[in-house]
Amino acid sequence: MAIAFVWAESIGGVIGQQGRLPWHLPADLKHFKTLTWRQTIILGHRTWQSFPNQQPLPQREHWVLTHQPAHDFPNAVTVFNDATALRQAVLRQPEQDFYVIGGVALFKLFADLVTDLYCTKIDHVYLGDVVMPRLAWNQFDLLAQQVVPATKSSPQLTFEHWQRRN
Ligand SMILES: NC(=O)c1ccc[n+]([C@@H]2O[C@H](COP(=O)([O-])OP(=O)(O)OC[C@H]3O[C@@H](n4cnc5c(N)ncnc54)[C@H](OP(=O)(O)O)[C@@H]3O)[C@@H](O)[C@H]2O)c1
Repeated sequence: MAIAFVWAESIGGVIGQQGRLPWHLPADLKHFKTLTWRQTIILGHRTWQSFPNQQPLPQREHWVLTHQPAHDFPNAVTVFNDATALRQAVLRQPEQDFYVIGGVALFKLFADLVTDLYCTKIDHVYLGDVVMPRLAWNQFDLLAQQVVPATKSSPQLTFEHWQRRN
């Protein structure tokens, strides 16, 4: 089983601003799509609300943690009202991989279980009101790193994959 975190952060660890991503970076969106395609993604309600038209992303199963009732969401979404039940549902499926895509509540909820960190480091300072929580980086090894040079419309991006040491 892999329980992976997938996120992008700017200098200073900013991940969100006023309910949205503070940036528009197509290369990172493509990277996110490749990682999560045909996988189960786990997200908090505010991250769900940041999706266009609040519709599921294509070809991905969505597990959303919220206090709201399931009928507020499209049928294709699996809704959890209880954080412990969500953790237990993940642990009950050891053959499956899960991709936790935020936000802060979800990264904190799975911090002790996460096996893989897929982080995009954005080499730019953005204003933000949501910051990535601290992770135990010293328990992980860097497996892969890919630098995408800056362009006129994008700062330099670094895609990193870290894996928990056994
Ligand atoms: N840069 C990135 O990679 C990245 C990734 C993800 C998100 N973001 C950004 O981060 C922001 C959203 O993240 P966020 O940290 O503010 O929120 P979030 O973690 O996505 O969602 C928080 C919400 O989840 C629900 N929730 C949390 N714990 C719960 C529990 N124990 N039981 C039931 N429901 C629970 C609550 O929703 P309700 O009470 O409303 O139901 C809570 O308000 C946006 O700006 C988004 O664009 C960025």
